[in-house]
This record gives sequence, C-alpha cells and structure tokens, in this order.
Amino acid sequence: CLWIRNLALKKRLPGPFAWPLVGNAMQLGQMPHITFSRLAKKYGNVYQIRLGCNDIVVLNGYTAIRQALIQHSKEFAGRPNFISFRMISGGKSMTFSNYSEQWKAHRRVAQSTLRAFSSSNSQTKKAFEQHIVAEAMDMVQNFLRLSADRCYFNPAHEFTVAAANVICALCFGKRYGHDDPEFRALLGRVDKFGETVGAGSLVDVMPWLQSFPNPVRTVYQNFKTINHEFFAYVKDKVVQHRDTYDPDVTRDMSDAIISVIEHGKNNMLSKEFVEGTVTDLIGAGQDTVSTVMQWMLLLLLKYPAMQTKLQEQIDKVVGRDRLPSMEDKINLVYLDAFIYETMRYTSFVPVTIPHSTTTDVTIDGFHIPKDTVVFINQWSVNHDPQKWQDPHIFNPSRFLDENGALNKDLTNSVMIFSTGKRRCIGDQIAKTEIFLFLAILLHQCTFKSNPSETLTMDCSYGLVLKPVKFTVTAKLRGKLLGLVS
Ligand code: HEM
Repeated sequence: CLWIRNLALKKRLPGPFAWPLVGNAMQLGQMPHITFSRLAKKYGNVYQIRLGCNDIVVLNGYTAIRQALIQHSKEFAGRPNFISFRMISGGKSMTFSNYSEQWKAHRRVAQSTLRAFSSSNSQTKKAFEQHIVAEAMDMVQNFLRLSADRCYFNPAHEFTVAAANVICALCFGKRYGHDDPEFRALLGRVDKFGETVGAGSLVDVMPWLQSFPNPVRTVYQNFKTINHEFFAYVKDKVVQHRDTYDPDVTRDMSDAIISVIEHGKNNMLSKEFVEGTVTDLIGAGQDTVSTVMQWMLLLLLKYPAMQTKLQEQIDKVVGRDRLPSMEDKINLVYLDAFIYETMRYTSFVPVTIPHSTTTDVTIDGFHIPKDTVVFINQWSVNHDPQKWQDPHIFNPSRFLDENGALNKDLTNSVMIFSTGKRRCIGDQIAKTEIFLFLAILLHQCTFKSNPSETLTMDCSYGLVLKPVKFTVTAKLRGKLLGLVS
C-alpha cells in the first residue's frame, strides 16, 4: 500500500507524444542532440521519448546530468542490452557491456594499464610523448608532400592514420605507417562505426528494420563486417604477443594486459578479454582524436587571425629551433583555450554512448525503472546560455581570465569525456595527443583553405560529429625540424 502511494507521488516523466510502432523516431531529425535540446525547452531537462519499442530517458543540462551521473552514479552506470553492442570487440567489450562485478574488474585492468603507459612514471610517459612527436612529424611531411605544387588535400585520412598509429604504438609497440595499404583500408571502414552506436541510431530499437531492404539494414550489415574485420586484425596481433610472451619483459600494453588477465591473480576475466580490451582501446582512441583534429584544422582555416595568434605565441614560447613539448603547455595558454573551445563549440561527441539504469531510481522527483535506456546530451551542457555567454560563437578567449590565465572553473565545465562511473578512461592520453599534434602542426606549417570551397560547420551525426569533407594546403614555416640535422 505504501509502495503504491509512493509510486503515485512520483511524477510521470513528461515528453512528446509517441506514435505507434516508431515512437518519436521520425522527429529526431539529422541532428538528434539539437532536437533533444529543443525538446528540453518544452519538457524540462529530464524527459522521455520513445524509439520503436524502447522508452528512453533523455538528460540535458549540467545539473540534471551531474545529479544522475555523480549523485546516482551506480544507478546510471549500465549499458543497454543492444544486439549491436554484443558484436563489438568479439563480444568481450568493456565499453559496451553492462554494469557488473566483471565489468568493474575489466575497467580496472584497462584503466590501470593506460595509466601505467601514459602518465604514471616519467620514463613511459616520455616514451609515449616521443611516439606522438614522431607521428606528428610524419604527418607534417605527408601534409607538405600532399600540398606540393599548391595542391589541396583532404586531411581526414592522415589524421585517422596518425591517431591510430599512436594507439597502436602503445598497444603493439609498433606503428603501421601512412602507406600500409591493409591498415589504411581497415581504418577507412572503421570510421563508419559510430553511425550504429550513437544515441538515436535505429538499428537496435527497431529490430524489424532488419527484415526488408532499407538504409538502416545496410548500415547494420556494414557494422557487423567492420567489427568482425577489426577484431580479427587486433586478435592476430594479440595472438603473436601471447606466443612470444616473456613475463620478465613488458614490451607494450598488450603484454601488460596479458600479464594481468592471464598470469595475474584475478580470475574473473578469461583470456579472450585481452583481445576485447585491446580492441576497445584502439577503437576508442582513434576516431575521437582524429575527428577533433579535423575540427581544429577547419576552425584554423575559418579563423586565420587565430591561426596567426597561435603561431606567434608558440614562436615566442618555444622559439624556432626546437619542437614544442608537453613542458611548454603551461605557457601556451591560448593554445589550450583554443582546444577547450573546439571541444565545447563543436561538442563532437554530442551524446555519450547510451547508458541504462541498473536499478529503479528517482531523479528530479521522476521515477525511472531499472533497465531504462538513458541518453546523456553533452551538447546541451556546452551550449547552455546560463553557463556560456553567446554559446554559438567560437571564442577561445572566453577561457582566459583578466590576467590572461586559463580559467580552470570554466575549462572543467566543458563536458566531452562524460562524467561518473563511465567517464572516458583515455582523457589524459587524448589531451596529450591533441596538444602535441596541434602545437607541432602549427609550429611547422601554415594552413590555407581552398578558395573554391565554402567553409562550413556542417557535419554528419553519429557517436562523433564529423565535419563534411574539406581540403587544405600546408606551407612549411622556416625549416623542417627534428628530421634534418
Ligand atoms: C568512453 C569521449 C578518447 C577510451 C568515452 C565516452 C566518451 C568519450 C563521451 C562515453 C562515456 C559515457 O558513456 O558516459 C572521448 C573523447 C576522446 C576520447 C572526446 C578524445 C578527444 C579516448 C582514448 C581512449 C578512450 C584516446 C583510449 C585510449 C575510452 C573507453 C571508454 C570511453 C575505454 C569506455 C568507458 C566505459 O564504458 O566504462 N570516451 N574519448 N577514449 N573512452 Fe573515450
């Protein structure tokens, strides 16, 4: 009786009228995160939509999202039981599996390995930074080659290969080079991954779309092939590591993960979780970083005065005789501000990977049952007019205080790596990579847009927002460093 009274007291979630069979699928539009923010104006920051046969709670704005992911962190730490999620990383993905004791153990392994190789002791940290510098210089050379005779080129693929090489160097102790055809072809297909797992993808919520030819079915079939090929590629490398494993020598992250999972005390994870973990890390570390690099280059083309200002600051702090390093970061404040503003303004991971509730939970007085799918709209946090003045304007200086220092309160308010129990575990790696890539590219090159193209911020929606194809030309600034003595 008390239970019924409690339930009656809890408010029903508001939300738009849902049509039979499809629910609100037809209302999502090309940019679901913008639609979600528009609906929040009408229904509040916590509301419900229906996609196919699933009720979905959409969370918007800093307060509601923090309340869910921080105050009720355990209750919102699940992942939906989608068929597409079970196809990822050979069915042994940490990223796409539900909250459980096994998931906790798996996340601990992935997180501690990443930390050991990228931040904990100064020797591995330095080695990691050197990988990035080498990759950035390779990219500079490729950009200059592709720009020869004033040619314009599409930078997307070079960024994809560079980001993949950094994470492969960490995982396999080896990079694969910009000219390896097998690797390039594989990466060219993997960038379609986010179409299926992004919030609002219809593949999982309307399974009946699989039964007749239509674009969603094609996307889904491609998704299966991509995951299969990508997993096979990684598995092959992990098997080589297993065969040559030496407990006394840890060559790279694959060895470290083999050591913990197969030779450690924890028996909650079988050996197939090694392949699963490595596939997760390479997948997560590649598309995100390469996409933000594309956005940053596009913004440098759109705002050439900012490009000049960034180069002037780099020249002043670093000089022209050596390459920028992580030690310069503290003095390259405008560059840091430019990176934060790119993340805020583009919100290129607009909605996190879908979450689900692990138990019944009440938020803002609304009752949400266990196993409800939850979408977390990061874009809405980064474009909240109460937090950001003129949120639709690109202005890196908003992050600088009156003394020209970085406003930490404001940089911490940008939400791109999510928060709570599912927060991204690669954020430090990503920040190091993005900073060094951008600083080195700007130190070595000046970028110009193609006058026959109109620069636009138009993009395609998925787990990451990708800018529409654009071309660029790069010109060397002074002498090429690091490669000529
Ligand atoms: C999860 C953002 C780079 C590894 C996530 C999530 C976001 C995100 C939004 C989902 C969080 C959620 O569902 O609430 C980003 C961005 C990156 C980036 C913006 C680059 C700028 C990386 C890198 C790695 C990585 C470089 C690894 C090397 C992961 C993993 C998860 C994750 C393993 C799953 C966490 C879990 O489910 O517990 N990331 N990420 N990410 N990211 Fe990243």
